[in-house]
Amino acid sequence: MRHVMSPLDFSVGELDKLLDLASDIEKNPAKYAHACDGKVLATLFYEPSTRTRLSFESAMIHLGGQVLGFSNAASSSAAKGESVSDTIRMISCYADICAMRHPKEGAPMVATAVSSIPVINAGDGGHQHPTQTLTDLMTIRSLKGRLNHLTIGLCGDLKFGRTVHSLINALVRYEDISFVFISPDELRIPDYIREDVLDAKGISYQEVERLEDVIGGLDLLYMTRVQRERFFNEEDYVRLKDFYILDKKKMALANENMLVLHPLPRVNEISVEVDSDPRAAYFKQVQYGVYVRMALILTLLEVEV
Ligand code: NCD
Repeated sequence: MRHVMSPLDFSVGELDKLLDLASDIEKNPAKYAHACDGKVLATLFYEPSTRTRLSFESAMIHLGGQVLGFSNAASSSAAKGESVSDTIRMISCYADICAMRHPKEGAPMVATAVSSIPVINAGDGGHQHPTQTLTDLMTIRSLKGRLNHLTIGLCGDLKFGRTVHSLINALVRYEDISFVFISPDELRIPDYIREDVLDAKGISYQEVERLEDVIGGLDLLYMTRVQRERFFNEEDYVRLKDFYILDKKKMALANENMLVLHPLPRVNEISVEVDSDPRAAYFKQVQYGVYVRMALILTLLEVEV
């Protein structure tokens, strides 16, 4: 039995296979419509979510399976003081696979110690978000045609943004990848990523504050929201929340093939006027998120179609 805590739980070869499967699902959805008949997915969400939870549920429903779960810690027995370990032991009796989101880093990992069903980390605090990364990889591979030879700009909250941390971990395994980290000084990428991931692998990167100065050299711009819920005080959040606003004027400085990605939800960091730009890929990204989660469920349940 296999759990997914980080994108590194898959080798590059396994990821290729998973993305191939997701592309086949995109092309031939009918072939997979009953692949998970009789199977149940549980979604255990201790922290708010729209896309991740619903895309997991949509994925299981499109595979013919059923879903159950909770979308809010307050409506689960966590509110009575039940531990994650006890909850997962019980869920193992109700479902075949589960996706868990939790505000504490490592909570899904704790669940794996007692779970008798595969556990998927659907976001743990500011740490990792592997299924968003699978979504991002499928979007890049589908729309750019490759996962190597890319200059990637990551902009916004690089300190608390778990999608950023997971994506960096995943992309450094491909050839000729360089990063441009665009953030205010307070929201720079954590030292452990700089030291253990980038420097350790000799990856080329620069850290800058102004998006305008670097946007022209990017193949891909990954925008992120300032993670309000991880700030210690509201004042800092208010000061930093509108630090970056991607608008038509800035898009005019970018390459004609540069893609704009965003894990969503968007707050103000991308102006709605950018939505109609053909380079805006963030809503397509949402659709890829369903295919890739379908592929992940099939892989973890070892269902062959
Ligand atoms: C992200 C998350 O939860 O980390 N959202 C998502 O899953 N698509 C990004 C965010 O909340 O900013």
